[in-house]
Amino acid sequence: MDIKLLTRTLTLKEKALLLSGKNNWETHEIARMNIPSFFLSDGPHGLRKQEGKADHLGLNESRKSTCFPTAATIANSWDETLARKIGEAIGEEAISQDVDVVLGPGLNIKRDPRGGRNFEYFSEDPYLAGKMAASYIKGIQATGTFACPKHFAANSQETRRMASDSEVDLRSLREIYLTGFEIAVKEAHPKAMMSAYNKVNGVYANENAFLLRDVLKQEWGFDGFVVSDWGGSNDHVLGVQNGSHLEMPSTGAAGANEIIQAIQNGELSEQVLDERISELLTVLLSKETKSGSFSSEKESEHHQLAKEAALKSAVLLKNEAAILPLKKGTKVALIGEFAKKPRYQGAGSSLVNPTRLEAATDIIRDYPVEFVGFETGYKTNSLATKPELLKEAVELAKKADVVLLYLGLDESSESEGMDRTQFTLPQNQLELIHALKQVNSNLIGILAGGSSFDLSFDTDLKAILTGYLSGQAGASALLDLLTGKASPSGKLNETYPFRLEDTALGDHFPAKGKASQYFEALFVGYRYYQAASVPVKYPFGFGLSYSKFAYSDIELSETGVSFQLTNTGQFDAEEISQLYVSMESGQNFRPKRELKAFAKTFLKRGESQTVFLPFDEYTFRYFDTETNQFEIEPGHYKVEIGTSSEAIELSTTVEQKGTAAKKKSQVEKFPHYFSGQMKQVPLAEFEALLGREVTKEEATLTRRPLLENDTIGDMQFAKSALARLAYHILEQKKQRSEKKGKPNLNVLFIYNMPFRAIYKMTAGKIDREMVQGILTIVNGSFWKGLRSVLKARRNCKKNQ
Ligand code: BGC
Repeated sequence: MDIKLLTRTLTLKEKALLLSGKNNWETHEIARMNIPSFFLSDGPHGLRKQEGKADHLGLNESRKSTCFPTAATIANSWDETLARKIGEAIGEEAISQDVDVVLGPGLNIKRDPRGGRNFEYFSEDPYLAGKMAASYIKGIQATGTFACPKHFAANSQETRRMASDSEVDLRSLREIYLTGFEIAVKEAHPKAMMSAYNKVNGVYANENAFLLRDVLKQEWGFDGFVVSDWGGSNDHVLGVQNGSHLEMPSTGAAGANEIIQAIQNGELSEQVLDERISELLTVLLSKETKSGSFSSEKESEHHQLAKEAALKSAVLLKNEAAILPLKKGTKVALIGEFAKKPRYQGAGSSLVNPTRLEAATDIIRDYPVEFVGFETGYKTNSLATKPELLKEAVELAKKADVVLLYLGLDESSESEGMDRTQFTLPQNQLELIHALKQVNSNLIGILAGGSSFDLSFDTDLKAILTGYLSGQAGASALLDLLTGKASPSGKLNETYPFRLEDTALGDHFPAKGKASQYFEALFVGYRYYQAASVPVKYPFGFGLSYSKFAYSDIELSETGVSFQLTNTGQFDAEEISQLYVSMESGQNFRPKRELKAFAKTFLKRGESQTVFLPFDEYTFRYFDTETNQFEIEPGHYKVEIGTSSEAIELSTTVEQKGTAAKKKSQVEKFPHYFSGQMKQVPLAEFEALLGREVTKEEATLTRRPLLENDTIGDMQFAKSALARLAYHILEQKKQRSEKKGKPNLNVLFIYNMPFRAIYKMTAGKIDREMVQGILTIVNGSFWKGLRSVLKARRNCKKNQ
């Protein structure tokens, strides 16, 4: 099809319509030109196609689909083939539900363990995140369905998520926050990309020309379309101008009208509009129409795949005296509510309505152990210990050789729309561990949770197997591992620190003001703990196996490094080997070691294999802010093969001539970054790195006029007493639901959203004029504001 001709043939109104949604999930069709409507749907670990009342918070039920383990879980498998298979399965289900674009995977960097959506993201490491995401995308797109990785970029907190500015220096942005997206785009060519809600260095991601044009399109060759996150299009015209194609969800007639007006008054040129339209149509119209049904065989096949994924992603953290795998006939008690009501996915827009759901209590009898009973032990979403539940659990534990103790973060502590406030398990679970320990020393913890948490209770447990959020078939996968049907092989995609105080951000997460300063720069996750010499509970890349592996004979070549891997244990098992690269640079501050390749190898016991880990364009590079491109610093690089980021088995060095001449050391300019004292970085040093001053926050408690991009929660600073009252009511609602242990996602969303989102997310029922009127009221002019609201309402109705 001649897209240029088609673009020329479209009327201005038709073009304008194509750039915003028709409703919550669909794009506009232009029937006269045979341009169909396209259906976009969440989400990353299974489909969430809503056919009834639509929302973007997972509040209303969607059609059934396979709930695979979430991204944080799959990343523990370090298995690109597996990720691809899951992508394919999701793509197939999308076809059967007439979904054209799957909104995922999510590949933001887990900057801090408290990030509310960490469970939806792959890793604290950009290389692992990028590789896993690329495989997912390849899988989804192999079926003809489009993938839409998200949220581009530097989207690291849920608090004020639509109004926060991520202030991050260029080098860290390129090396940490963009590299995963770069790998995904270059390797998998996603047909779409979702821009993030937040600002990046002062400019909303959806209208950020640097991100969308300079980097994504020009540098990486992205040839898909950019869609805003839901309600994340701040200035639609500016978005289109700077490289965004589609505003979602529908803003009623407003979206198209804004584009038409901008063309008419010269704010947007026809040329740019046509460029965007032809880019968008080139992708959309390249999509083959496919149809397929989701047969019961397929449903079973996908359930099996969800099980395989959970099995390959579970991580064995501890196994004292080889208590696992359980011996045949062991008397086993199941304790913990999660054994009956599994915690298998996170809440929010990724919430899947599963085709089936396994629970350990339903299937334990299928395993060669003697099941002596189940007790709840604690109630989820409640902190209080119930003495009768504790007592029953203790009595049961006395009858068992081994207690399989199902523990974890409950739903209320991990969800889109809020960041975590707790790092520990709920108090009632901790008390349960303590009580059981008095009567049975063979406690085996089976953990659920999509991000790291305090595991200091592990001294009371003989073994720990974490399933993360293991999807609908997690229960059987974990029991297979516990009983030795297979060996655990997963390794952590993130670090488990001892305490929250140990994290790079300490008290500084989440940012509560307008901007979030990325003081720690490159030093995210293990890069921080290693540079600052902070010991951790379980390092990045760590995971045990029932078998043992020996590493030998490292050999370096121009293209990579090879070594001999031998399974010296008693189990057939898989091993994840990791390649880390580092250099002692006089010139730039650098992490102590960075992941640059990995491989997962299956070896039968006694078997040996040569493993080759290739170098690639990411292996030796760093981003040079002077030349404004990636360079290789000349010098000697350490090349290490590890079983985790802290357990190095083999090491060698390689010399690189480099791409840039040696430069003067920056140690005097950035002393704290060189010495690993990221927590003590003075503002001036960070500003030197950032290249400008940071955003100054208004003093708290001052009354000030609020603007469109201030949040509803900012009404606490409003001039109007009425608005402050409204804030207090909202705040109380928020606190009440938090106390109940079940945060209200709607309230949280409203609390954190800017006024602008009122007209961006109500499909034109409330328009921008009305929001301006509301702001006039909030800012203290009640009657004037009310008149504006009423007038705008009349106009809005007329225009609908
Ligand atoms: C989330 C996106 C999601 C979209 C649609 C937003 O709130 O941030 O990840 O795809 O809603 O549900």
